[in-house]
Amino acid sequence: MSKPSILVARAIFPEVLAQLQQVFDVDHNQDDVVMTHAELRARMQGKVGALTTGSERIDGPLLNACPGLKIVANMAVGYNNFDVDAMTKAGVLATNTPDVLTETTADFGFALLMATARRVTESEHYLRAGQWSKWSYDMFAGAEVHGSTVGIIGMGRIGQGIARRAAHGFGMQVLYHNRSRLAPELEAECKARYVDKGTLLREADHVVLVVPYSAASHHTIGAAELAQMKPTATLINIARGGIVDDAALAQALKDRRIAAAGLDVFEGEPKVHPDLLTVPNVVLTPHIASATIKTRMAMAQLAADNLMDYLLRGQTRTPINPEVLQ
Ligand code: DGY
Repeated sequence: MSKPSILVARAIFPEVLAQLQQVFDVDHNQDDVVMTHAELRARMQGKVGALTTGSERIDGPLLNACPGLKIVANMAVGYNNFDVDAMTKAGVLATNTPDVLTETTADFGFALLMATARRVTESEHYLRAGQWSKWSYDMFAGAEVHGSTVGIIGMGRIGQGIARRAAHGFGMQVLYHNRSRLAPELEAECKARYVDKGTLLREADHVVLVVPYSAASHHTIGAAELAQMKPTATLINIARGGIVDDAALAQALKDRRIAAAGLDVFEGEPKVHPDLLTVPNVVLTPHIASATIKTRMAMAQLAADNLMDYLLRGQTRTPINPEVLQ
């Protein structure tokens, strides 16, 4: 009997690919060439499943061209590359990889906060450029982390992980803003106080963005919000490009309207707004918040398990649109 055909749209760990090859006829992309939307659509034709990452857009026109498709498993917790309504309408199950990356991503959010507040990369560039000739009392003096106030926008699992690190590890006051308030016991565990967005922006020394991207969260931080922040504040974005208006942020950093920013995600990435590349008071990383070997392996395995469970056994692990199953 022939095996079901699937596409693995980007390179993944060979051992995970090998598991898929045992049970599926796999069209893979271990050369890791990023496909255009038209190429992706052509490669998806005749497939019953696909393993994607955030770089593959699954939308109505692609779904219309692939009537046999049953499931797309995203190797990411975020799924703003999916048109979930169109997938549900087409009867295609969408899955993501929650939980397995929560603590790793929270670690990175905190690392970026610390690197930004304490000017780690800026001072390293200075040293590497041979500019360090003497110690001085205010050289690369940054912002305090312990005992300061962090404001977290988006209090899902990763936001809560950052809150715990901040409150329990660094004695920080934790403010948060979210679509809905956490249950009282979770607020107590995270030592977090719910506030409106304006209060958070005005009172936080460090603002951390962990909100999922949607039309509603587009430019959650723009010029108006940056103007409300303290001039000494830092802004950290580990959520998605588009949550911050990058042009407005670059201007605010140039004008020292806020002290510094740490960015792991960008509008239109892998392109980066050119002004962000020239301002010194920003730490830039290429979307690596979940990038440890152990976590990326767990994400790949969960995406593969979603494909195998659904296509071979009719079961699901982490569905985004479970209504497809009814
Ligand atoms: C996620 O899982 O959403 C990360 O941003 C990696 O894409």
